[in-house]
Amino acid sequence: MASCQHVVWTCGRTGPRVFDAVILTAVASAIDIPDLIDAGPVSLRPLTRDDRPRVHRWLNDPAVMPFWSGLDRPLSEPESIEWVERFLREGVSLRCLVIETPERPVGFIELSRQPGDRNYGHLAEIDICIGEPSEWERGYGSAALSALLRWLFTDAGIQRAFLQPRVSNKRALHVYEKVGFRREGVLRRADYTDGEYNDAVMMAALRDEWLTEFGDA
Ligand SMILES: CC(C)(COP(=O)(O)OP(=O)(O)OC[C@H]1O[C@@H](n2cnc3c(N)ncnc32)[C@H](O)[C@@H]1OP(=O)(O)O)[C@@H](O)C(=O)NCCC(=O)NCCS
Repeated sequence: MASCQHVVWTCGRTGPRVFDAVILTAVASAIDIPDLIDAGPVSLRPLTRDDRPRVHRWLNDPAVMPFWSGLDRPLSEPESIEWVERFLREGVSLRCLVIETPERPVGFIELSRQPGDRNYGHLAEIDICIGEPSEWERGYGSAALSALLRWLFTDAGIQRAFLQPRVSNKRALHVYEKVGFRREGVLRRADYTDGEYNDAVMMAALRDEWLTEFGDA
């Protein structure tokens, strides 16, 4: 067992708080992201190798696959291992956060950013998947995204957070607008899944606009 310092970021205006915690295994966290983002009904924590089996199950779930861009066939075991390893390897630029209810992990958020980059350091690209279909429409996706946006805009120096859902993904579009993303335009044939090209919507939240609308929430 090792004692280490954990940084916990609580959804709200209090900012990060630091405490000592005992952990059993080393988690693959880098200094740029808290060990835990408290999002009310859910929390966000960095992906670890222990998540491999559940990630494999989520990405191969026939109910999830049609919504998850690029997954037009089941993922093999080696491919899902590589899927996890890629996030652990990439370090600060590409991160995966696991969304957990008090009962169990239910999905993940991909976060792509270039901290410190002179031209692109202010950008963050997000993608989200609640991998347990039985947990859809319980408010978890909205809560996770709201907390992530708050952390990105108040603590991580991000000016613009964006995502690119398919035009046909009405639930995702609704959730993204609800948490503060705005539609900026249609990206024609931006998505290719299952032998079909699909249009996507460019949606973004800007720091000042978002804080004006949601900063006090
Ligand atoms: C999209 C996703 C992240 C949303 O998370 P979630 O936890 O299911 O969503 P929430 O419970 O927070 O919110 C659901 C909202 O969508 C609404 N909704 C559901 N189906 C809808 C539809 N067809 N059209 C419009 N709104 C819809 C619900 O009424 C609810 O709105 P409300 O909160 O205003 O009442 C999640 O469902 C998911 O991961 N789906 C599979 C993968 C996916 O689509 N990922 C996104 C890729 S861009």
